[in-house]
Amino acid sequence: MAQSDVLEQRPDDESDKACIQEEAPRAIHFDVFTLFPPMFSGALSESILARAQKRGILRVTLHNIRDYATDRHHTCDGYPYGGGGGMVMRPEPVVRAVETVLSRPQGWHLPDERDRFDLPAWNADEPPVPRQPTPIILLTPQGRRFDQSIAAGLSRHGRLALVCGRYEGVDERIRTQLITDELSIGDFVLSGGEIAALAIIDAVTRTLPGVLGHASGAMYDSFSDGLSGLLEGPQYTRPTAFRGEAVPEVLVSGHHANVEQWRREQSLLRSLQRRPDLLAQATIAGHLTLEDRQFLSSQGWQAPTDS
Ligand code: ADE
Repeated sequence: MAQSDVLEQRPDDESDKACIQEEAPRAIHFDVFTLFPPMFSGALSESILARAQKRGILRVTLHNIRDYATDRHHTCDGYPYGGGGGMVMRPEPVVRAVETVLSRPQGWHLPDERDRFDLPAWNADEPPVPRQPTPIILLTPQGRRFDQSIAAGLSRHGRLALVCGRYEGVDERIRTQLITDELSIGDFVLSGGEIAALAIIDAVTRTLPGVLGHASGAMYDSFSDGLSGLLEGPQYTRPTAFRGEAVPEVLVSGHHANVEQWRREQSLLRSLQRRPDLLAQATIAGHLTLEDRQFLSSQGWQAPTDS
């Protein structure tokens, strides 16, 4: 079979429409609380995130925390008690913003041309009751490390609130009184939670049925269940030879079973070389078959022991 035939006859493409239609439609709404709403516009208006919004699967409402500060200068920060460098995010504008928005229907936001004294009524001493059970997630380097399984878990919610920290940190009472979860996208410090929020919106959205343009969706993304939580192996497209390096023969053979076996082995090999911790997790979770383990052993892998 010619390579062009193989490229055009991937089994995923065949079942694309049927599979997408069979999946129950799921949509997610993010309320994002930030001091810098314009940071989101580029990322949300391109590619997969733009398409997800057009299809009604993703909705993002940006809320400027500064709009909820009631003093003349719309102050959102303060000096840290006890001294020390940097500024700390004040609790009132953040708590007021989140409580105001979450006690209203999805999609609500302050009118653009509002007078700042027109803010909805809010009692600083008493939270509105009942609050919808919407997760309120603070993006912070101190949070749980975000990963694919957290993305999959979050995708089951219809509405999520993301609070982007800024300055050198947030007043602790934002955590104790408002936040229900804290997430970090890695052991490094960003200048604020906005980039982390975008990473989370993107990772969660691509797991939803109908977002990606092919039937298998994100099922075979690295770290996903379809790959037993392992890394994806190498990928190739045209041309068949590039600067003397050829596409592996098996991929142009048209033999689906052999292609699948090759892909599985490459995924195992890549994980062995780059992320042996993922192999250990997959072993403990019982996700590796006998063939997987035999292949890995042939590559010098030693299965983790119980002790
Ligand atoms: N804000 C600053 N650094 C961050 C990180 N690593 N993850 C999430 N939010 C952050």
